[in-house]
Amino acid sequence: MNNISLSAFTEMYKNLLEEELKKNVETLGAPTNLKDSMLYSLNAGGKRIRPLLLFATIHAYGKDPLKGLLPATAIEMIHTYSLIHDDLPSMDDDDLRRGLPTNHKVYGEATAILAGDALLTYSFQLMTNMTEQNIPAEIIITTISLLAEAAGAEGMVGGQVADIEGENKVLNQRELEQIHLHKTGKLLEVSITIGAILAGATSTEIKTLKQFAYHLGLAFQIRDDILDLEGDEAIIGKPVGSDMDNDKSTYPKILTMDGAKRELDVHIKQAKDHLAGLHLDSALLEAITDLIADRNN
Ligand code: IPE
Ligand code: IPE
Ligand code: MG
Ligand code: MG
Ligand code: MG
Repeated sequence: MNNISLSAFTEMYKNLLEEELKKNVETLGAPTNLKDSMLYSLNAGGKRIRPLLLFATIHAYGKDPLKGLLPATAIEMIHTYSLIHDDLPSMDDDDLRRGLPTNHKVYGEATAILAGDALLTYSFQLMTNMTEQNIPAEIIITTISLLAEAAGAEGMVGGQVADIEGENKVLNQRELEQIHLHKTGKLLEVSITIGAILAGATSTEIKTLKQFAYHLGLAFQIRDDILDLEGDEAIIGKPVGSDMDNDKSTYPKILTMDGAKRELDVHIKQAKDHLAGLHLDSALLEAITDLIADRNN
C-alpha cells in the first residue's frame, strides 16, 4: 500500500468515489429531472483531482484514505456545481464540458442552475454524515467551516466574480494571481487541508501543506489557461479558445505563452520544495504535482 503507484491509487479511489457520488444522488427523494441533471454532470468523468489530493494527503500520513470519502464526495459535488454554473450563458457560455454537451444545453438553464444549487447544498449535508464514522464533532465542524469558506464568497465564488470583472481589462500579474488563487486554488487547498486534519497533521504541517497547495493551485490554473489555447478539444473535453472569446485575463495573455510556461515551472518547483520539507510519505502527492504540470486534459 505504501508504495502504490499513482495510477493504481487513482483507479482504486476514483472508482470508490464515483460509486459514492452516484449512490448518494440516486437515493435522493427528489424530482427525477433534477437527479438526472445532477448525475449527468457527476457521471461525465473528470479527473477527480481534488478527491485524489484529499486521499493522497491522508495516505501520506499512513492512514486509511477512505476516512476522507465523505468530504471527497462533497468537494467533488461542489466542484461539479461550479463547472455547471461556470458554463452558463451568463458566465463563460460554453457548450462542451467533460466531453459532453454542457448541463444547460441538455437540461435547460433553469434546471442546470438548480442542479448546481442542489449539489452545493447536498455537499454540506453529506459532510455532517461524518458523525457516523466516529470522527470527533469538533473536527467535523472545523472541516465544514473550512469547506464553506473555500467554496464561498471569500473563496471560489469570490474568485469567479473577480474573473468576470476581469473580462475586457488588462490586469497585472498580482491581480490575476488573486483570481486564480480564489477561483481554483481555494478548493484544491481545502482538499489537502481537510485530508491533513483527518490524518491528524500538526498545525505546522498544515501550514506547510497550505504553502504547497498555494503553488499547486496557481500551477493548476496556469496549465488550464495554457490548455485553453494549446489543448486538443477532444482531449480536454471543453472548448479551446473560450478565454479568448470572453476576453479573459489569463497567464498566457499577460505573460506570453513562454512566460506562462516558465511561471508554471516555477510554481511546480516551489510546490515540490514545500512538500519535500515535510518528510511525509508524499510520493503520491509529488506524482499528482507532476501530473498537474504535464496534464493534457
Ligand atoms: C476545471 O477543473 C476548472 C478549473 C478549476 C480549472 P478540472 O480541470 O479539475 O476539471 P475536471 O473535474 O477534470 O473536469
Ligand atoms: C473556472 O475557471 C474555475 C471554476 C471555479 C469553475 P475556468 O472558467 O477557466 O474553467 P474551465 O476552463 O471552464 O474549466
Ligand atoms: Mg470561468
Ligand atoms: Mg470556464
Ligand atoms: Mg479555463
